[in-house]
Amino acid sequence: MNLEYLSGFGNEFASEALPGALPVGQNSPQKAPYGLYTELFSGTAFTMARSEARRTWLYRIQPSANHPAFIKLERQLAGGPLGAVTPNRLRWNPLEVPAEPTDFIDGLAGMVANAGSEKPSGISIYHYRANRSMERVFFNADGELLIVPEQGRLRIATELGVLEVEPLEIVVLPRGLKFRVELLDAQARGYVAENHGAPLRLPDLGPIGSNGLANPRDFLTPVAHYEDLKQPTTLVQKFLGELWACELDHSPLNVVAWHGNNVPYKYDLRRFNTLGTVSFDHPDPSIFTVLTSPTSVHGLANLDFVIFPPRWMVAENTFRPPWFHRNLMNEYMGLIQGAYDAKAEGFLPGGASLHSCMSAHGPDGETCTRAINAELAPHKIDNTMAFMFETSQVLRPTQFALQCPQLQPSYDACWAALPATFNPNRR
Ligand SMILES: [Fe+2]
Repeated sequence: MNLEYLSGFGNEFASEALPGALPVGQNSPQKAPYGLYTELFSGTAFTMARSEARRTWLYRIQPSANHPAFIKLERQLAGGPLGAVTPNRLRWNPLEVPAEPTDFIDGLAGMVANAGSEKPSGISIYHYRANRSMERVFFNADGELLIVPEQGRLRIATELGVLEVEPLEIVVLPRGLKFRVELLDAQARGYVAENHGAPLRLPDLGPIGSNGLANPRDFLTPVAHYEDLKQPTTLVQKFLGELWACELDHSPLNVVAWHGNNVPYKYDLRRFNTLGTVSFDHPDPSIFTVLTSPTSVHGLANLDFVIFPPRWMVAENTFRPPWFHRNLMNEYMGLIQGAYDAKAEGFLPGGASLHSCMSAHGPDGETCTRAINAELAPHKIDNTMAFMFETSQVLRPTQFALQCPQLQPSYDACWAALPATFNPNRR
């Protein structure tokens, strides 16, 4: 099957896998074409401002309501409940892909979250590891999913169509959208931000103007594609952090046509138009924001997805790595490929770090010393892609994240070697 995509962000898209399957001029005619059932899929409350409302009309072989009761699964998500509160800076080595058969759901491990899963708010962050395709279909009632692959290509069959993504691309799946993650390589690994707040959107550009950063036309949404399969299918949902399942006698990926703006999409991070200083000083990392989930406080994000892509460093008379800082926001960082310019070692692709509200951090000792003494010629940071899930509420590690052997015991030590260079007699 050749994949086709619709281009744009927030658009009112329309797509039909059979000619004429979309009703014309109305959403729910008495008889939908081809004997399809009409269903509304809402991503925001009905009464949101029009500019923020998300919803899609689905025309499907069976309505989603045709399912038996869900039963709580014995095997729940790895990660478990939140662990002890800690203000400490934490860093993890990459989690290994398990040897036993593990699909995308089995391999999701909860790492940190703003709140317990029984009362989700803000964001929750997972790592995934998988070595086989899902045979079941899944939906997440708890939030929108931002998937950041680090290893292995994924084919994601959704109700609205099929997306293929590879490392250096991301995919966003609206809350409640049914999907099945298939592996196109032997194994897959990556990161997932679960957004319990307002759906992700493009950031405003302010004085930057009407172009730059992530451009809307580079966001790709699949065209309609349906499975008319009368075969037993397990449908799993995550509801307040727990996995529940029911058995269907058909594939729930059976939407023949749809129109609306509550849609899955993918984006190639290599298309990000990276901006930065052309004079001096290191700009705030907000200039690297790909997507944002705002809160009701203007400028305060529930989730900012920020990347650190290849870019030229040209600032004159400037300490070029990220400065030492203490932030209001809470930062969970990951690495997709290469090395991150603020850390000489210990931060690996597939690994992660957590710097909570007001925890002091910045370049490690080795990077700092090198930057202070560097000859400042223009130079390109290449073959790298780090990212940050940044949130305004404190992220608490799960018990799993605090107990796993990948937690580095001595992260603080990377700042311990900063030399004492103060000399009151030498300006
Ligand atoms: Fe930071």
